[in-house]
Amino acid sequence: METTLEDRSRELEARIAGEPGAFRILTGDRPTGPLHLGHYFGTLANRVRLQRAGVELFVIVADYQVLTDRDVADNVSEHVDGLIADYLAAGIDPSKATIFRHSAVPALNQLMLPFLSLISVAELSRNPTVKDEIGASRQTSVSGLMFTYPVHQAADILFCKANLVPVGKDQLPHQEITRTIARRFNERYGPVFPVPDALLSAVPTLLGTDGQKMSKSRGNAIALSATEDETARLIRRAVTDADRHIAYEPETRPEVSNLVQLAALCQGRDPHAVAAEIGDGGAAALKKVVADSVNEFLRPIRARRAELMADRTYLRGVLAAGDEHANAVADRTLDEVRAAMAS
Ligand code: TRP
Repeated sequence: METTLEDRSRELEARIAGEPGAFRILTGDRPTGPLHLGHYFGTLANRVRLQRAGVELFVIVADYQVLTDRDVADNVSEHVDGLIADYLAAGIDPSKATIFRHSAVPALNQLMLPFLSLISVAELSRNPTVKDEIGASRQTSVSGLMFTYPVHQAADILFCKANLVPVGKDQLPHQEITRTIARRFNERYGPVFPVPDALLSAVPTLLGTDGQKMSKSRGNAIALSATEDETARLIRRAVTDADRHIAYEPETRPEVSNLVQLAALCQGRDPHAVAAEIGDGGAAALKKVVADSVNEFLRPIRARRAELMADRTYLRGVLAAGDEHANAVADRTLDEVRAAMAS
């Protein structure tokens, strides 16, 4: 029988529970704006859980990757501060994690060159996530970076020899490219890199308040940093349907079920139970429950985030320490790569 990625992820979870110290995670985000609830339940909560379980965590602030779909990285240092505040407020422990950025780690970027030689143009052209991003891009022409950033992402993962990458489904094609590059490098030059596994999140993807993919550019996302009023307003405008009876039926009633799911995640309860409680209360009652649950859940995270944003010196110190550690690790790996390729 074929093992699916879901099976593989369950198997990995069992191994992580038994031997967390055998795993190193690399994951990260583009600094293009504040993180939202989709990020929180899709990946941030998972990172925090795995870190608390004893897995080593590397988190990349993907500042060079901002330039894949736009010509200029606007407000990048403000977004970097915000991203680090989001991470720490969500519970990532900076005394154990390495939080760093692309632009501060030259040896990581240098890996891009040998890695580009290990993958074909045809393989890069087939990547469905890159195709989607090109479709949604605000640029009139596709840059070489848009086309090749999955290779850069392989450098992000392999420079620190991460063996585990918690991802959403949209990142799976990139993950395949990373695995291909690691395998081909090892075959051609000798064993240097692990072939990292993707770890899928157990939580279904949250939709935005309009029922589409949640994203900051669509204005349908609830930012961790949003105020309680902004949150309530966004949820009041959310798309629902005409049936007053509230139920959790993701296949047939995606918008209502998504709101129920959001409340359930925030309350740490089963979505069917949350829906049953609202019963025939209709969309207005549902929205009130969702807004209250989200605001209550985020209250401590928001308070902590506001404190962190008021202390930029501290935030920048966390990043500087992460950059320093990432540089030491990247220099060591680049030395191994040079030696392997020279012999
Ligand atoms: N592509 C990711 C995003 O858009 C960010 C990212 C960059 C990343 N490098 C990575 C994620 C390596 C996982 C592994 O959010």
